[in-house]
Amino acid sequence: MVIPQESYMLADKASSPYYVKHVDPSRIAMEFYLTNQANQLSRRTNWFYTPEVMDWDSVSGLLKLERINGLIPLSIYINNTHQDLELLWKVGRALGTIHLQMKPSSKIKSIAPKPWCGRPEDQVIVHGDFNTTNIGCRSTDKRIIILDWSNGPALPFQCCIASRYLDLAHFVRSLLLQQSCMIKAMQRYPDRMNVFLQGYCDQTGIVVDFTKLFTFLVLLNHAIMKKQWRQRKIISFIQSCLVQPLFAVSRINKKWHKKLFCVDPKQMHYSYIHSRNEKNRRITT
Ligand SMILES: Nc1ncnc2c1ncn2[C@@H]1O[C@H](COP(=O)(O)OP(=O)(O)OP(=O)(O)O)[C@@H](O)[C@H]1O
Ligand SMILES: [Mg+2]
Repeated sequence: MVIPQESYMLADKASSPYYVKHVDPSRIAMEFYLTNQANQLSRRTNWFYTPEVMDWDSVSGLLKLERINGLIPLSIYINNTHQDLELLWKVGRALGTIHLQMKPSSKIKSIAPKPWCGRPEDQVIVHGDFNTTNIGCRSTDKRIIILDWSNGPALPFQCCIASRYLDLAHFVRSLLLQQSCMIKAMQRYPDRMNVFLQGYCDQTGIVVDFTKLFTFLVLLNHAIMKKQWRQRKIISFIQSCLVQPLFAVSRINKKWHKKLFCVDPKQMHYSYIHSRNEKNRRITT
């Protein structure tokens, strides 16, 4: 169906029940499919919500979504609340739910090329651009909202199946680089990263392999650096350049990871949050 241009203008107003976004027509089928599947899954779980797709048009690239009111991007919200760790633990659980429960269909089943596809045991349906600007928190009920189910524009391919470490790396990188104050982000990073990975582990039972994670961080950061350079986003490019050696050294040597980021992979246990959410966990798993 073709969404007329006027309806796009109307629907884009905040008072409209719809949010219409423009997507590259070559990518819209994949985004529609993933958003739709995520919406169905999100109705069966308490961990996150993805807006419903009301309509889409492969010619014009218009995607009409249910509008979420009171949406605050996570990149802003986590810096304005004292409950950032609890929230990030829930984001880890939400991503775990997605990786466990979303399944490829015969219609769309494209696998990422090497090395992005990872090892067979790590191949899952991925969000593709799982970062703190594409995830929000709804102010009314504190529900985590996951948007923008398209492969990150920095990636040189389109896929729906890739290594779980692609999404994990996207999020861990954004905890460091997508924050308004990088110094504060560095200080909070060990706790934030640990608690997010703990949530993921609690949901999937998979203990994150730090060598794989840092391999993907190096790959992903490099791809994003290239895009930032092409777009002449100089400050973002410099920030990405600064962290690249830290990611690279951490990949080679776990001790360096502990030294540079003060994160001990063996001590990823947040009993405080764990016990507080134990009841909630049993209800919603
Ligand atoms: N369903 C929705 N309801 C309300 N706001 C939305 C909705 N979808 C997207 N938005 C708003 O639009 C912003 C961009 O959306 P999205 O990430 O899906 O598109 P994008 O094309 O990737 O844009 P960007 O490049 O800015 O990330 C979101 O951060 C959010 O503020
Ligand atoms: Mg986006």
